[in-house]
Parts: sequence; structure tokens; C-alpha cells
Amino acid sequence: MSPTIPNVAVPSVAAAIREVLLESDPRAKVMATRKVARDWRLGRLAYAFDVAMPDEPGRPDAPELLPPGRMPKRGKGGSERGRIALWHALAHIEFVAIDLALDMAGRFGGEMNPGFVGDFLSVAADEALHFALIDRHLRTMGSHYGALPAHSGLWEAAGNTRHDVAARLAVVPMVLEARGLDVTPATLERVRNLGDERGARILERILDDEIRHVRFRSTHFAAWAETMNGEPADLWKTLVSRHFGGAVKPPFNDSARLAAGLSRDFYLGVVCQQSIGITPTRETAGGSDHL
Ligand SMILES: [Fe+2]
Ligand SMILES: [Fe+2]
Repeated sequence: MSPTIPNVAVPSVAAAIREVLLESDPRAKVMATRKVARDWRLGRLAYAFDVAMPDEPGRPDAPELLPPGRMPKRGKGGSERGRIALWHALAHIEFVAIDLALDMAGRFGGEMNPGFVGDFLSVAADEALHFALIDRHLRTMGSHYGALPAHSGLWEAAGNTRHDVAARLAVVPMVLEARGLDVTPATLERVRNLGDERGARILERILDDEIRHVRFRSTHFAAWAETMNGEPADLWKTLVSRHFGGAVKPPFNDSARLAAGLSRDFYLGVVCQQSIGITPTRETAGGSDHL
């Protein structure tokens, strides 16, 4: 009798990421995201891209997703209702950020390199932790992720840049992460002034991580720009102008952006010529009061 040959084939990183993207239950997605990042780190996944990423990731039944213009008013920041609405909006941003980072690694990892995959899987794991921390905080207020509607615009940045890694690297910070650097310090101060020390510590943790996330984007963008023999700041501006529908407005957190590799050359004077369908609102453009 011939010996049984054990199946030792290592799953592809793309297949593992696709499975996590399609997971719709938030808690399961958090666990699975952290697992895929760990498996990659430990060499349990092959650098192979044999499956495509889904156009739409799995989403739970709640929250209901509404266009930014139809989002209910959040109420005063100091009221319990206002506090819950703020943390709920933050939870949604982190939830979408998990999928954005996973999609970055799974969709573009093959044309980039293994270091790129590792960086964005570590970002996804951070976003999963941010989401979990915020959801737990919401629960201490008697609420949870899904209790309120959330805005539908965040994933559009992914959809509209899904054929172009450089556009994706340039645009997502305009919608999410670099905007987070700009607005989080003021939110943090407000949260602390309201006596929510635990919330303030969560935001401090997020701010630190987001600087690293934007730095990953800047570094990989610079490497791409070098292959194009282009000046990173000029190429970045061109891509943002073409693919981001919102004006890039101050105030900017210049020191945090600089720490993340985004000097003022990158974002001053950006003129947006073509909409990608994201209506600039307080939540996607300047003046946002959260991440
Ligand atoms: Fe985050
Ligand atoms: Fe992030």
C-alpha cells in the first residue's frame, strides 16, 4: 500500500484575503483579519495571486448605509446621543478601513511585492483592532456598531481606484487616513474635555497607528514613482486631481503629515477636475470632525 501523501500545499495569500473580505459579520471579520495578518507573518501563506478580489466586500445587515447627504444630524457633541453618533461614525470608518487595507494587499500585492503585502496586512490588523476598541467603547455607552445608519461613500474610493495601485495609494489618505491625522487631535481634545479618558486613549492609539499607515502609503508610492521616473509629489497631485472628487482643504496637521512622509508639496494646490462620486462633505473633505 502506498503511503498517504499529506496535503502540504500552502494556501495563497490572495485566497485567504478574499475569504476575509467576503466575511460580513464584524466580529468574525476582526478575528479573521488578525489571523490572515499573523499567518502571512509566520510564512503560512504563499505569495500567490490566483483569485480576484470581490468588487464589494461582505457587509452586515446593519448599519444601514446612506449617502452622506442623507445622514441624520449627529446632535450636540456633549449630549449622550451626540457622543454615540460620533463613536458610531468612527466605528464605521475603521470597519471600512479593514476592507480597504485587505483589498490593497490582495488586489495589488502581486504587481507590487511581498513587503507591500505584509505592510497592508499589518494595516488591516491595526484597523481591526481600532474597530474592536471603538465597538467595545460604544457598548459601554449602551450602543453598538450597527445601531445607527452609516455613510456609504467610503468604499467608493476603493471602487473608483480598483485598476490603479498608484491612484489607490494617493486617494485613500485623502478620504480617510491623512484626513484622520488632521482632525483626530481636535476630536481627541474634545473627548478628553468631556471627561472620556478611555475614549481619548483609544484616539491616541489610533492617531499613532494612522501616522504609520500613511507612511506606508507614502513609501510605496515613492517606490512606484521612482519606477515611473517621476517626482512623487507631482504624480500624487495629478492622481488626486483626477480621482478624488473632494477639494483637499485645510486645516492640515502638518507635523503629523510630515512624520508620515507627506510634505506640504503633496497636498497644497491640489485642483480636483473629475469626481469619483464622493461628494465632499464634512466627513470626506476638510472640516471633518472625525477620522
Ligand atoms: Fe484606523
Ligand atoms: Fe489606517
